[in-house]
Amino acid sequence: MLRDTDEDWKGIAGEPYYGVFSHLEYFRENLTPERLEHFWASGRGDIGWQLDLLRRHYGDFQPKSVIDFGCGVGRLSRALAEIVDQVYGIDVAEGMREEARKNVPANVQIFEAIDSVPAETVDWINSTIVFQHIHPANGLPLFQKLLDRLAPGGGMTVQFTTFKERGAVTMAGLGMDYVSWDGERMKALIETPPGSGTMMMYDYDLNQIMAMLYRAGIERFTIQHSNHGGHHGAFVIGRKG
Ligand SMILES: C[S@@+](CC[C@H](N)C(=O)[O-])C[C@H]1O[C@@H](n2cnc3c(N)ncnc32)[C@H](O)[C@@H]1O
Repeated sequence: MLRDTDEDWKGIAGEPYYGVFSHLEYFRENLTPERLEHFWASGRGDIGWQLDLLRRHYGDFQPKSVIDFGCGVGRLSRALAEIVDQVYGIDVAEGMREEARKNVPANVQIFEAIDSVPAETVDWINSTIVFQHIHPANGLPLFQKLLDRLAPGGGMTVQFTTFKERGAVTMAGLGMDYVSWDGERMKALIETPPGSGTMMMYDYDLNQIMAMLYRAGIERFTIQHSNHGGHHGAFVIGRKG
């Protein structure tokens, strides 16, 4: 059975800022105005970088609406709200949505699921450090729903993890107690799933993502490397034809 990562996030959202950046300084009791300002500045920096790449590769881009999938406490939604007229933030965890609503301006609406977003299409789909936490069997259909919402000419900035470096993963992290190694593959013999509320990290097949992009009419895209603690991946930055 697939792990229910939605349940994990409902628990993690008890410490919502730590859930976004897993450093002790982002525990509620350790938050200071300076740390918060740094947190929001990081969101403006990330969005500025993504928008700059979109424009540099695909010309003039003046989006009016955006979906911020997995918006968390609104780190990126706040920055996006300075650029577009309407932001639709989506987050599965009630604790995240509650905190986000306190943080965002009036042109940001927050929803639990993509299906609730009222606009038929949007000019931009963004998702950063989100799909990596969703099992691909669940994440890819969600990604398809995002692609279905992208208007012609729309831009995408969506990040996935795709491989891990030595040391970034442990047997315990994968929930494996005992394994066998036949020279090519490791096979779990006895497993104990990581406890509820664990932030899981999954790798996606970039080739599968490329096939989905092609089918969605996104034939021109650029890949930017990402590395979150040894979990490597790609920002896929593209524009629908
Ligand atoms: C690491 S945080 C990133 C938040 C935000 N994107 C940012 O960069 O500040 C991951 C977020 O994804 C949300 N999330 C996880 N699974 C989700 C799903 N299936 N649908 C929507 N949001 C999800 C979590 O609740 C969490 O708020």
